[in-house]
Amino acid sequence: MNDTAQAWLDFDIRNDPAFENVIKPFIENQLKELELYDRKRLDRNPDIQYIFHKHAYDVSNDVRKTAAHLGQPDHVQEALYWAMLAHDIGKRMVPVDAWDKPGKPTPEEKALTRQHPDLGLALLDEHLGDLDHPFVDLMRDVIKYHHAHMDGSGTPTGVTGDMLSKPVRLCAIVEAFDGYTKPRPDRPTPRSAAEALDKMHNDPDKGARMYDMELLTAFTSVKLDTPSGNAPTPHKPSTRAVNVGSV
Ligand SMILES: [Fe+2]
Ligand SMILES: [Fe+2]
Repeated sequence: MNDTAQAWLDFDIRNDPAFENVIKPFIENQLKELELYDRKRLDRNPDIQYIFHKHAYDVSNDVRKTAAHLGQPDHVQEALYWAMLAHDIGKRMVPVDAWDKPGKPTPEEKALTRQHPDLGLALLDEHLGDLDHPFVDLMRDVIKYHHAHMDGSGTPTGVTGDMLSKPVRLCAIVEAFDGYTKPRPDRPTPRSAAEALDKMHNDPDKGARMYDMELLTAFTSVKLDTPSGNAPTPHKPSTRAVNVGSV
């Protein structure tokens, strides 16, 4: 992520006609399309509970809470909220029968669904590609890299933590947590918040291999401090200031 891509940090979308008249309607429309796509999924399988457009709102709300916890100003919280809403817009461009299969997905099925960041990027460029705008740069970054891992083992493969912005790293954490805590066809009983966070911290394949641990610690604090949250885990962290915008 270069300096240009960080211009969003100093930009307030709340006072911006381009955001209000062009970008926000684009995001809202994409979420409506995603909701229609979810209805197709529910027509095929009424029992599914991992609903993509709801996931987008859940992720955005948790990212905003984490940014607030980290002391980020309101305009940064607002930009992150709206950018995260768009992170999975590409999912509806994947054939609907690729999702919600019982059992673990095959490598071929995974390869198909893992196209959704690139497909989302294509949607963004189709609709907003001519718009030179710092918030669009943030959205592009989040859509493209939210399944990247710190060690380079995610999607796109080989993209490592040093290449990932803080918004991308935070999105990766929050969206993984949301997936872990929702019932899935291959895991009908969802993990509790504490179980999911424990796995994210301590599973040898996860932790620092996948996540920015400073942000995971902040997010853990946010989730476990929530009154409706689950029992604390040994990972309840101290509150520390982290600049979400810095690379
Ligand atoms: Fe995704
Ligand atoms: Fe997601």
